[in-house]
Amino acid sequence: MVDQITNLIKIFQQDLAACSDSTSLENLRIKYLAKSGELAKLMEDLKNLPAEEKPSVGKLLNTTKNDLEAAYSQKKLEMTTMVFQKALEDNKLDVTLPAHYFPQGSIHPLNRVIQEVEDAFIALGFRVADGPEVESDLYNFELLGLPKGHPARSMQDTFYITENTLLRSQTSPVQARTMQAQAPKNIRIICPGKTYRRDNDDATHSHQFMQIEGLVIEKGITFAHLLYYLEIIAKKIFPHAQGVRLRPSYFPFTEPSVEVDVKITKNGQTKYIEVLGAGMVSPEVLRKGGYNPKRFSGFAFGVGVERITMLKYSIDNIKNFYQNDLRFLRMIRGE
Ligand code: PHE
Repeated sequence: MVDQITNLIKIFQQDLAACSDSTSLENLRIKYLAKSGELAKLMEDLKNLPAEEKPSVGKLLNTTKNDLEAAYSQKKLEMTTMVFQKALEDNKLDVTLPAHYFPQGSIHPLNRVIQEVEDAFIALGFRVADGPEVESDLYNFELLGLPKGHPARSMQDTFYITENTLLRSQTSPVQARTMQAQAPKNIRIICPGKTYRRDNDDATHSHQFMQIEGLVIEKGITFAHLLYYLEIIAKKIFPHAQGVRLRPSYFPFTEPSVEVDVKITKNGQTKYIEVLGAGMVSPEVLRKGGYNPKRFSGFAFGVGVERITMLKYSIDNIKNFYQNDLRFLRMIRGE
């Protein structure tokens, strides 16, 4: 029996040395170490031995079992390490290769300007309000002091969907809607949004464009407050602005109304650029919105987003904003 054991160790070692992959190693385990393997068979035979031989042969069998199992485990570990090493070598990663180019997107210049203006006004306690683009004649004109047949309607010729619905020609209907919804509470809103006009499509006009509307209604609001906020918006849009100049103007829903020019000095030359329309909300519009004009007053302003963005970035054609030409967008981004 001792010879059989010695022999088993020998052929096990030969077989083990010949194992070159995990399949042959697994076969080896089944052949020698599994429940019905060679070693187990010898263990079975132990009971047939004379009693005096049993302890020593039993001990030898146990150490042999431990040795063979240890040798098997060692080989298995070596093989796994080898497979891993090979995988590493086959898939060499060259960290010095140039990386893939992922083009970076950016916020559209028009949205960027809107966000800047919004941020400035939110910090001053304003709320951003919204309204529909398909608007009723009532909100776009009627409640803003422009009854049917009013000559000033022709300033804002627009696209009618039915006789009483149209694509809004200005963001001012949001004033009327907010007043109706909030009267008689105080109002401080800023409203950016798309507007439509049947304009000539030329370098500075488009049938669709954007405005930002501002509205404040509180007790005791005066023209001085309007001037204060106009200076803030001017400086927000044009960081080099030195102030604003007001010229009398006309809007059907404000009285008095002004055209706002921003004063900018560049290379020793002072320029005034026309940027906003504004005024004190007319008593009639306040009344129609549900406010008593004897107790409440307010101001409103409106600014063309494309216009100020064109001035800010020296863009000469409004169409650039809508064509999604990456070269244009990169140029604005300063690349
Ligand atoms: N809605 C006016 C326009 O489009 C601009 C404006 C808004 C003027 C608010 C005064 C107050 O011409």
